[in-house]
Amino acid sequence: MNGSKNDDLSRRGFLKRAGIGAAALASGGLTALPGLAQAQGTRRGARSFRLSINAERVYWPIFTGEETLVQRMRVQLTEGNASHLQEIPGSHLAPTIRAAKGDVMYARMQNDLYDPTIVHWHGLEVSERNDGLPGQAVLPGGHYDYSFAIKNRAGTYWYHPHPDGYTGFQVYYGMAGAFVVSDPAEQALALPRGEYDQVLVIQDRRFDPNNQLVYSVNPFIGTLGNQVLVNGKPNYLMSAATRIYRLRILNGSNARIYRLKWSNGLPMVAIGSDAGLLSQPVAKPFIMLSPGERVELWVDFSDLPIGEEFKLISEAFPGAQVGTGGGQVNGSAMDIMSVRIDRQETETLSLPKSLVEVPRYRIEDAVNGTSPRNIPITFDGMFLLNNRLYELNQVAKNEIVQRNTLECWEFTNDTGSFATAHPIHLHGPSFQVYYRSCIKSLRPAWENVRDGYVDEGWKDTVMLMPGETAKILIKFGTTPNLSLYHCHNLDHEDMGMMRHYRVV
Ligand code: C2O
Ligand code: CU
Ligand code: CU
Repeated sequence: MNGSKNDDLSRRGFLKRAGIGAAALASGGLTALPGLAQAQGTRRGARSFRLSINAERVYWPIFTGEETLVQRMRVQLTEGNASHLQEIPGSHLAPTIRAAKGDVMYARMQNDLYDPTIVHWHGLEVSERNDGLPGQAVLPGGHYDYSFAIKNRAGTYWYHPHPDGYTGFQVYYGMAGAFVVSDPAEQALALPRGEYDQVLVIQDRRFDPNNQLVYSVNPFIGTLGNQVLVNGKPNYLMSAATRIYRLRILNGSNARIYRLKWSNGLPMVAIGSDAGLLSQPVAKPFIMLSPGERVELWVDFSDLPIGEEFKLISEAFPGAQVGTGGGQVNGSAMDIMSVRIDRQETETLSLPKSLVEVPRYRIEDAVNGTSPRNIPITFDGMFLLNNRLYELNQVAKNEIVQRNTLECWEFTNDTGSFATAHPIHLHGPSFQVYYRSCIKSLRPAWENVRDGYVDEGWKDTVMLMPGETAKILIKFGTTPNLSLYHCHNLDHEDMGMMRHYRVV
């Protein structure tokens, strides 16, 4: 690879092209990179597996013709059962990691990029040392060791880089993968399995005439593409049987919010949200999915004729954002993928009436139920969280929580004339959305999307439309640690829309 290509893949190069001054990136994580891995001597048991993850830059055949320069996580299983890794054939995206609750995972991430990086396990509740916080990023040539037991309930989690200032850039260039967890309660259900249980990572991208990714971001908007890749592939076609499928959809886009629907009118039936199955299936007119969020769909193709072809689409919706940043405006209609029914098979499954137990948190059990912790989302030259920009490893007084308590956090999206939707993500335990509302002047756009929120189950990312307030209930863990919350518009996050919180 020659020098100019190298520059193209460094943030400095991107900042120069985008014309953003260093002052605009006040988050300041470029210099301080402590936290190199310490080996951890946990005893290995029968239910453990070990991965080696190489963060690397390669040319990849995404299209016919010129290959595309990507950054990817090359993952190999070095110990344990082969079923823990499921490659997506032909894709530059990272393989799906599959594990059962209780399994122990060891991994070494080797940074062969030209920028700092670190891998975060989005949605998994792990110790601070294993979380992949920005302060744990390692320089090129370095490595980081992880070892943790999987504590989460069955669900569709994911993994992606998390270095301060480079996350959007690295994810955009291809660093993302799904992390599917199973548990006994899920295994007891008659849900589609094997090839009828599929992960779909949806990401919008833009390419130049030479098939190279275009990352000309307007950071206030975030990187928006003009086409959607599914599992890293353009014009994705799913060949399906006349069966029932469990589709685990992960929005791995930098900034794009989708309003998902089947073009042939098949019902949108959700059985899971970000961090686990729902208590029962729920039909929605459409499903809103913002960056970082996941939804699990139950899709019944069994009555469709052979040869039927239709699409998963994102319908147009107004009010999420102003401006295009060079791609297609957030909220414009886009095709996600095509489905073609190409074979007859017999289906014996039917939609379960109930799924798993999801005990609902109660506001009266929260320690601050009557006066929730308010986290404003504002704009003052930059997007701010809690009136602040990101500060490495720092917490403000109102970002300290007591371990083992149930709290209500109230986010208010009040970015004024810079009306923008923001998906807010918390590391640590999954939470429940307790209440939403919207200010009167921005209500119409909110009312137009709110029926597509899947708030019935466990969440780790909650989208707020302009003017919206969301109250969440979260039960903090028992171990003191430093954690993180941020906007999952990855370009907002890189600009500093991220804060730590501390459990004491
Ligand atoms: Cu998916 Cu802190 O991120
Ligand atoms: Cu996360
Ligand atoms: Cu944001």
